[in-house]
Amino acid sequence: MKHSYFAFLLIIIALCTCEPEYFFDQKVDHFTPSESTFKQRYYVYDEHRASTGDEVALLYICGEIVCTGTAQNYAKEYARHLKASLVTVEHRYYGKSVPTPTLSTKDLRFLTTEQALSDLATFIQFYSKKLRNPKWIAIGCSYPGALSAWFRLKYPHLVVGALSSSGVVNSILDFWQFDDQVRDSAGPECATQLRRITGIIEKRLKVDSYHTKALFSAQNMTNPDFMYMIADAAAESLQYGFHGKVCDPLIGGSKLSDDQILDRFINHVTQFFYKEFDKEAPYDYSIEYIMDERVVFGRVARQWWYQTCVEVGWLQNYKNSTSIRSSMINMDYHKDRCNKVFGLTSPPDTKSINLLYGGDHVNISNVVYANGSQDPWKRASVLESQSDSSPLIEIKCINCGHGVDLRGCPSLPSGVGPSRKCEDNEAVDRAREEILRRMRRWLL
Ligand SMILES: *[C@@H]1O[C@H](CO)[C@@H](O)[C@H](O)[C@H]1NC(C)=O
Ligand SMILES: *[C@@H]1O[C@H](CO)[C@@H](O)[C@H](O)[C@H]1NC(C)=O
Ligand SMILES: *[C@@H]1O[C@H](CO)[C@@H](O)[C@H](O)[C@H]1NC(C)=O
Ligand SMILES: *[C@@H]1O[C@H](CO)[C@@H](O)[C@H](O)[C@H]1NC(C)=O
Repeated sequence: MKHSYFAFLLIIIALCTCEPEYFFDQKVDHFTPSESTFKQRYYVYDEHRASTGDEVALLYICGEIVCTGTAQNYAKEYARHLKASLVTVEHRYYGKSVPTPTLSTKDLRFLTTEQALSDLATFIQFYSKKLRNPKWIAIGCSYPGALSAWFRLKYPHLVVGALSSSGVVNSILDFWQFDDQVRDSAGPECATQLRRITGIIEKRLKVDSYHTKALFSAQNMTNPDFMYMIADAAAESLQYGFHGKVCDPLIGGSKLSDDQILDRFINHVTQFFYKEFDKEAPYDYSIEYIMDERVVFGRVARQWWYQTCVEVGWLQNYKNSTSIRSSMINMDYHKDRCNKVFGLTSPPDTKSINLLYGGDHVNISNVVYANGSQDPWKRASVLESQSDSSPLIEIKCINCGHGVDLRGCPSLPSGVGPSRKCEDNEAVDRAREEILRRMRRWLL
């Protein structure tokens, strides 16, 4: 018994290629005088760090995820090319960097973008002492892509430039444009079948909601929460460049019966979405999961819902018959959810965050904004270049999704695993070369 237990432990240790994690004392609240601190986690990848002379450091911003280490993506290549240290900081309230004992609405009050940006500034000040006269560049993808641009805006004395990969700098309250792009990325035939599937499921929910949801092991969810997840299962696959996974089985679907097309979609959701994309699904879409105020390592959904309900918005809604998702998913659904879960009586004031940072008119020097052509989030990025020193690079291909310049295509949301080759990777290569060229210029 004891021996097999010991062997088991050894296997765990052997499998764990985890890099060392570090912690530093971060302020709980940057905006009121107080001594309270919490442990904020970070990682260091400095294999290519120059041994003499002034240094370069890349600040990699982890976002609304458990930050498990240095991202296995192209940021490491930038570090190699620039002989830089690549330092990755976990976002407050996620993973092991939680500043409060619970995730109650009251305790979550320190979860704001301004606190998060101040964390990064404090971190740079702290970590710079370990380096020789460093110049910093911020890097982030998705929500952290917005943070990296905003960081350069608010702290231009701390970073010489920023890479905003699929950076959602524009906080849109009623974000129906997301589905507009889901439709475009799916293409007309796949979009038609996805809408048809939504319709079939809605119809069956009315007749026998328990058994309809049970087909997806989701019988415990409310109908709208369930429909929200159904939309995500399609949208997220497109978002990360898996057009073939979701759409190939549906092509030619007009010849299939309702049962047949539904089966194909069930297969996609249960065999691909649950297994490869979101191992907590469907449970993490249920209201019980999101209402749980305990700090449970590995869970991130409540924190992110809080950010969307309170500050950043991007509430992905139905607009009209062109939307892929169910009409159950609208502003009322979101208002109700934000109210039930956090006791909020009004929707997030996205006008105020856009006033703070500039929204899609954010005008900062030395930022590269990159987009993947299939990514629905690109509708919330900078749409038109505001300054010559901050170009927009749209990377076009069928599986170019969220953060494609960093992550390759397609890529899993966790970002774990080797970065994959893109079928049409010339576009990605060109973008990476351009980004590196810009970074070198900022460092002169
Ligand atoms: C649904 O809820 C019941 C009772 O709370 C529980 O026993 C069951 O495991 C749940 N099923 C799923 C699939 O979550
Ligand atoms: C749906 O809404 C979009 C955006 O307002 C609009 O461009 C489109 O024409 C509408 N389509 C229909 C079928 O109403
Ligand atoms: C952005 O800022 C630069 C520098 O201040 C200015 O020259 C440029 O006109 C601004 N761009 C826009 C679109 O306002
Ligand atoms: C992102 O996509 C939008 C919509 O297609 C486009 O207007 C914009 O120029 C793109 N931005 C970047 C940074 O590529």
